[in-house]
Amino acid sequence: MKLEGLTTAITGGASGLGLATARRLIKEGGYVTIIDLPSSPGAEIAAELGERAQFVTGDVTDEASFAAALDAADAQADGLRGLVHCAGAGRKLRILNKDGSPGSLEDFEFVIRLNLTGSFNALRLGAARIARHEAVDGEKGAIVMTASVAAFEGQIGQINYSASKGGVVGMTIVAARDLASQNIRVNTIAPGIMDTPLLAKLPDNVRESLGASVPHPHRLGNTDEYAMLATQMLENGYLNGETVRLDGAIRMAPR
Ligand SMILES: NC(=O)c1ccc[n+]([C@@H]2O[C@H](COP(=O)([O-])OP(=O)(O)OC[C@H]3O[C@@H](n4cnc5c(N)ncnc54)[C@H](O)[C@@H]3O)[C@@H](O)[C@H]2O)c1
Repeated sequence: MKLEGLTTAITGGASGLGLATARRLIKEGGYVTIIDLPSSPGAEIAAELGERAQFVTGDVTDEASFAAALDAADAQADGLRGLVHCAGAGRKLRILNKDGSPGSLEDFEFVIRLNLTGSFNALRLGAARIARHEAVDGEKGAIVMTASVAAFEGQIGQINYSASKGGVVGMTIVAARDLASQNIRVNTIAPGIMDTPLLAKLPDNVRESLGASVPHPHRLGNTDEYAMLATQMLENGYLNGETVRLDGAIRMAPR
């Protein structure tokens, strides 16, 4: 799909990887709807991005607010064609706590609901809107989901996060096959350690040692490197059903 004039919704677009993608799509001449929580700085960010950007509140785990946010995206310019789903988070969880008690079922389910159920919600509600449009050059639209290298080598404390992101990787080929009849492509990015606001809070020496653990290049990933791949996944009509690791060849250690 041509990025110029393309309308894309970005969940979690008020921060980190989603925000970098919003910036890149605006630079390429696209229209962007940032969908994020009311507590996020989405409104200020959309104002800064200019008239081709809008912010709509929406919770990816909530059917009504997320559907309304996607409707607003679909009302922008020529209608919704792209969806980059970045909303997600982790919450440390061990199978057994230090005192031998079992880990929290609530913390497991919270992360599954946000990352995995939220991704299915993004697929189904996004695809329902994209599918209504006429195909252009053989395609109606494309969806990018976000997993993590923790889908493959989860660290101790990531049992819930790894399960959720492994689920996103597993959904990718099924989603691409399922939505093929609608001419909608689906791909997933599995980032390694990216330089997002969360990591910016860490002391420099911790950030440097995290960066040094990456084989090449010896540094954290830039948010714009995620954005480059996300926009390529929207643009490249033959890229479908694929999960791409974006990680400088890192393979995470057990802890
Ligand atoms: N940063 C990394 O190193 C890294 C590595 C691997 C995977 N990821 C994944 O990339 C995605 C984006 O990460 P990030 O680092 O940019 O995070 P971030 O915390 O900077 O941004 C996430 C955004 O999602 C929003 N959000 C959270 N819950 C939401 C909900 N229920 N509905 C709508 N919006 C919600 C937050 O308000 C926030 O603006 C996540 O899925 C994360 O798991 C990140």
